[in-house]
Amino acid sequence: MDIIQAIQERHSVRSYQDKKIAPEIVEALQEKIAAINQLSGLNIQMFTDEPQAFKSLLAHYGKFRNAKNYIALVGEKSEDLDERCGYYGEKLVLTMQMLGLNTCWVALTFAKGKIPLKLQAKEKLVCVIAFGYGETKGIAHKNKPLEKLYKAAEPIPQWFRNGVEMAALAPTAVNQQKFLFTLIGDRQVKAEATGGFYSQIDLGIVKLHFELGAGKENFEWVD
Ligand SMILES: Cc1cc2nc3c(=O)[nH]c(=O)nc-3n(C[C@H](O)[C@H](O)[C@H](O)COP(=O)(O)O)c2cc1C
Repeated sequence: MDIIQAIQERHSVRSYQDKKIAPEIVEALQEKIAAINQLSGLNIQMFTDEPQAFKSLLAHYGKFRNAKNYIALVGEKSEDLDERCGYYGEKLVLTMQMLGLNTCWVALTFAKGKIPLKLQAKEKLVCVIAFGYGETKGIAHKNKPLEKLYKAAEPIPQWFRNGVEMAALAPTAVNQQKFLFTLIGDRQVKAEATGGFYSQIDLGIVKLHFELGAGKENFEWVD
């Protein structure tokens, strides 16, 4: 499976089989997390076979079943921490999809206080990503019309359309899709969060999807 296929096949899954993650997969994920931590300055931590985080009432309300594996997105407090967690966390989500796992971003419906985290000074937990072998593969979310997700003079270039299409497939909190891509001139793109809960995490996620769809060589980000 390539990464575009992973984007197309990924859906949030909240019910997991009662099955341990294969050791070689745990190892591959540890390596990927170590590489991402090095690159991003984050302190992402993985927990397997740890049922406490999803035992709370909130998790029950969130309809999680057998959620015992998760990745905690942690980093030093900074203005762009949420966005960086979104961007690098989604890299892990797509990696897991390619490894045959299913995932769900979780910012609210878990027991934050029960996670056996190792926090350094100035660090905070942003949210987690639950993962495992899904009971199902999940279902596609509803999409806003593509035109609501971008601003650009028509006709838009194909690479820009591909970027927005991949962003539309991204997970966002409560599927709010509160983001907007603006094409400036021929190859400058501005990405904005347009409000809502956890929208800076969403922004990081959709920017990764946009890059993968559009091809980094075709454009540059501007503020
Ligand atoms: C930042 C963020 C936070 C989320 N928090 C929760 C959560 O607390 N509980 C939950 O069940 N789902 C949560 N989700 C999953 C979204 O509801 C889901 O991604 C969205 O409905 C789109 O569906 P899809 O992921 O299947 O495409 C979260 C997603 C994101 C991106």
